[in-house]
Amino acid sequence: MRILLYRGDGVIEPWAREFASIMPHAETVGWKEGEVLAPCDYAVLWNPAPALLEQLSLQSQLKAIFLMGAGVDALLKFGASLPEVPLVRLGDAGMGVQMAEYVAHAVLRYFRRFDEYEQQARHGAWHPLPQIPKEEFSVGVMGLGRLGMPVVEAMRHFGFPVLGWSRTPKSIPGVETYAGMDQLEPFLRGTRVLVCLLPLTSETANLLDRHNLGKLKPGAYLINVSRGAIIAEPDLMTLIRSGHIAGATLDVFRHEPLPAPHPFWNEPRISITPHISALTMRLEAVRQIADKIAALENGQPVGDLVDRTLGY
Ligand code: NAP
Ligand code: GLV
Repeated sequence: MRILLYRGDGVIEPWAREFASIMPHAETVGWKEGEVLAPCDYAVLWNPAPALLEQLSLQSQLKAIFLMGAGVDALLKFGASLPEVPLVRLGDAGMGVQMAEYVAHAVLRYFRRFDEYEQQARHGAWHPLPQIPKEEFSVGVMGLGRLGMPVVEAMRHFGFPVLGWSRTPKSIPGVETYAGMDQLEPFLRGTRVLVCLLPLTSETANLLDRHNLGKLKPGAYLINVSRGAIIAEPDLMTLIRSGHIAGATLDVFRHEPLPAPHPFWNEPRISITPHISALTMRLEAVRQIADKIAALENGQPVGDLVDRTLGY
């Protein structure tokens, strides 16, 4: 069995080592621009080059494409030129707990006013601030999937009022759930801290614009850990400058790395991290992919299939 390993950043050696230890019977191959790709049974990719997908779509032997991450937008943007084989994303693979840690840190930082204490400490000020009543600090999680649910559970653990929004209706104990565009407005109006864990699709691109972010409770906070293009970035700046949004913690951006002249860098109410909220755990990922390859080889179904029509 031959498995293609490809990453846009070129770092495949550590992946090849994990595959060699977990699937010693399989041969792994790489690919570089200008090369002719050897026939492969499976491809394991992240941020593929267009020329590579062109070659893959000509391969009759290819049985499935696996992604080295959870988001599928960078692959589905190739649309009809993608090979007609199952596309399989990573499941939780250790990302859920990281998302819960990241979001809990950001929510608690705002709720316990650590952001304000950081500022005070810079000026040598010693001023205990009034505690915010927890019932006024509702957390609305957009996206109740593999990564949204661990965040919901963490927020419930700390006793925050939790709202959730998804495409299809859900019933989650202790959570006020909303579904579909018709229920977006009441979800946003009830939310003080908005956590975005939606996939980037044609329906979610630019969803969080001035109009929708403006429906959040005054003094709201935004935590975006999914994809930057879901936020209309200039609209977010406008709402932060007006004070309607009190602060934002952003891990993902429309253009990454965030360009040096971007106004977010100089806005003290915006905290920036470099797309690290939930990293791919390589060993966990390779184990998961190896199990799914074994299932496919035995004619069994696999989970985490991408729905090309829905876009996630
Ligand atoms: P998932 O399991 O596919 O869940 C997606 C959730 O979004 C589902 O609840 C889905 O609703 C909901 N949704 C999709 N389209 C919607 C729409 N139009 N309206 C309302 N709800 C919609 O995805 P996941 O594994 O939780 O991952 C979410 C995203 O996180 C990924 O797509 C990726 O972009 C991002 N991510 C970021 C990092 C990072 O380090 N920053 C790491 C990993 C992933 P249903 O439940 O009704 O289907
Ligand atoms: C990272 O952003 C991922 O989608 O896995």
